[in-house]
Amino acid sequence: MKVHGTPTRTIWPVAGADAVEIIDQTALPHSYRVLRLNSLDDVAQAIRSMQVRGAPLIGVSAAYGIALALSRRADDATLLAALQTLAATRPTAVNLHWALARVQACLLPLPAAARAAAAWLEAGRIADEDVDQCRRIGVHGLQRLLSCRRAGHRLEIMTHCNAGWLATVDHGTALAPVYAAFDAGIDSHVWVSETRPRNQGLLTAWELRQHGVPHTVIADNAAGLLLARGTIDVVIVGADRIAANGDVANKVGTWLKALAAQAAGVPFYVAAPRSTIDFACASGGDIPIEERAADELRLVHGLDGAGHPGALRQLPADEAVANPAFDVTPASLVSALISERGTCAASREGLLTLYPEERHG
Ligand code: MRU
Repeated sequence: MKVHGTPTRTIWPVAGADAVEIIDQTALPHSYRVLRLNSLDDVAQAIRSMQVRGAPLIGVSAAYGIALALSRRADDATLLAALQTLAATRPTAVNLHWALARVQACLLPLPAAARAAAAWLEAGRIADEDVDQCRRIGVHGLQRLLSCRRAGHRLEIMTHCNAGWLATVDHGTALAPVYAAFDAGIDSHVWVSETRPRNQGLLTAWELRQHGVPHTVIADNAAGLLLARGTIDVVIVGADRIAANGDVANKVGTWLKALAAQAAGVPFYVAAPRSTIDFACASGGDIPIEERAADELRLVHGLDGAGHPGALRQLPADEAVANPAFDVTPASLVSALISERGTCAASREGLLTLYPEERHG
């Protein structure tokens, strides 16, 4: 996608240096800042602090984190410790563990001297595959969006959190079909829920604005009213982990939208690549849900009246707060899953039609 007219990915290796650069997502939407990461610890910290975030991007970042670690020392102990450090950064998005398992399988059998170069290559491959898979999600998802269009009306799409190109390397998951529709000249408009407490909806608004896609930001709690009123034609979200039975873990608040969509008779789609599907996880109840810091609710971040960034306290420091970051939408509320291979029912059988190689896995 483009930022201020320049084609940009969310992460890239720096030529001639053992480093990667990322877009610091904690600075958006107020300022666009590129950050250089020079070490495994830099990457782990960027994932923890959500300077990089979104399930596919977390996985790709972790792969580059391994490359950075091995550029300094490439013995078995260093590799295993780096895998462990990164695996502990965030628990819910399975893409992290998928990427780490893939680089481990690729690198561990190699002699130490060959590992660093192979790690950079493998991380680059994972990043490129993510771009291609998201592009293909856009192609398949577009057909679904078009099937929801009412003749003579603008297509009204609702999304939650940020499952756009900022959450991946490029294109996005849930937003890839939205960009495909816009690029195909389909008259469309996106309702973006704010997504408290971290407000990833503001990232969605920022990237839609960069691309010129018409959109409106709403408070999370307004989604039910819009669905009940018949304003929305289709809801599409991403996922952090899809269990083998089609249950979907995604940003907290997703389940409420799915319930409201079902009550209103509005299709509810989930778009995600293969790296988000966890065939080893039987159902949503087995998905670990991340609990994040209480200060994410106690403090509100933004610009003050003079345009300076800062935090405002909205709750006393000792106020009891719970901050689960994800919820699980049961497969029964999901109209279909959309992946790089096409569209399927949210069920074990449905997933196996797209990934038959997993049948005996
Ligand atoms: O906590 P985040 O911002 O990393 O979580 C990301 C999400 O939950 C997104 O909604 C998304 O659907 C998964 S990433 C495409």
